[in-house]
Amino acid sequence: MFTLGAVLSQSRLSCGRQLVLVHCQRCASSQAKERRRQELLDRIIRVDHAGELGANRIYQGQMAVLGNSPVGPVIQHMWDQEKEHLKKFEELIPKHRVRPTVMLPLWNVAGFVLGASTALLGKEGAMACTTAVETAIVKHYNDQIRELIEEDPEEYKEMLDTLKKFRDEEQEHHDTGIDFEAEKAPLYNVLYQTIKWGCTGAIWVSERI
Ligand SMILES: [Fe+2]
Ligand SMILES: [Fe+2]
Repeated sequence: MFTLGAVLSQSRLSCGRQLVLVHCQRCASSQAKERRRQELLDRIIRVDHAGELGANRIYQGQMAVLGNSPVGPVIQHMWDQEKEHLKKFEELIPKHRVRPTVMLPLWNVAGFVLGASTALLGKEGAMACTTAVETAIVKHYNDQIRELIEEDPEEYKEMLDTLKKFRDEEQEHHDTGIDFEAEKAPLYNVLYQTIKWGCTGAIWVSERI
């Protein structure tokens, strides 16, 4: 009956009867696969939800300062795309029963402060922030895409399609930043490296707690 690799274990109960446990290896491996799938989706959705919330707050902060300037519509367009990204992950959180990161309140404030403070340096400052953030996010999405393809491209097709679409839009945001003279921001390299590594650290933390 258990020809597909059954494992039997026996133990004697205190009443003297013998307890026989039968473990189906196929069941055990499908349970392990399901656990792995849940852990993977948990980590991906938690961190991406946090990142998209942070991105929304950054663009909101930029709009608070530069909304009425000539670059207002450009920033608004990027913010509108971020709203769609966040909406998607807000749907995926309950769908896959993922716990959001405990860091959300901090990213909420930090995102807005980062967006507004860099925008106070002028259009170039805001765009330098955008190029730095989006560099970190594009790399992050590419890492996730690679991981899911290695894991099972068929199983994760829907998630892969979402991540690829968002990755491409984040790349556009990065390129827009360059087109709108990010590199002319005061202390561009310091600003760029600081923000990029700050985002990378935020990603690391949001994947874990
Ligand atoms: Fe985004
Ligand atoms: Fe973006």
